[in-house]
Amino acid sequence: MTDGSTRRSVLTTGTAALAATCVGCSNYNDNGSSSSSETPVSSGASASGAASATAGEALAQTSEIPEGGGTIFKDQKIVVTQPTKGEFKAFSAICTHQGCTVNQVVDGTIDCPCHGSKFHIADGSVAHGPATRPLPAESITVTGNSITMG
Ligand code: FES
Repeated sequence: MTDGSTRRSVLTTGTAALAATCVGCSNYNDNGSSSSSETPVSSGASASGAASATAGEALAQTSEIPEGGGTIFKDQKIVVTQPTKGEFKAFSAICTHQGCTVNQVVDGTIDCPCHGSKFHIADGSVAHGPATRPLPAESITVTGNSITMG
């Protein structure tokens, strides 16, 4: 006799579809129509988890960067300089001393308000301590009149 035992293992994969259990819901829509609850699908299929989409982001127009000076973009934490006409450089706006954000570009230097460090607009090197390390260069692309990150 053959015992045709069929084994079925039901694999319940852990697609944890967390149905939004209305913990604090007190409002009911009085429409009468019962809409099926939609479960948000959060797929984990994307390979990279990098959420900061900064590369390619429009940063400024070249006209916003003074010749012989620079402009600080606090949101992007970047300072863009134009040491000589038509030459644009970008550096981190985070001071290498203790991490303050630089706050002005004056007389050819990028200045930190916290302890007085200054960095040259041409290469980010230290012009005045206490910082000892240059501002790291950031990558920008100048296309026509627009400056984008990356
Ligand atoms: S954090 Fe910039 S000088 Fe100290």
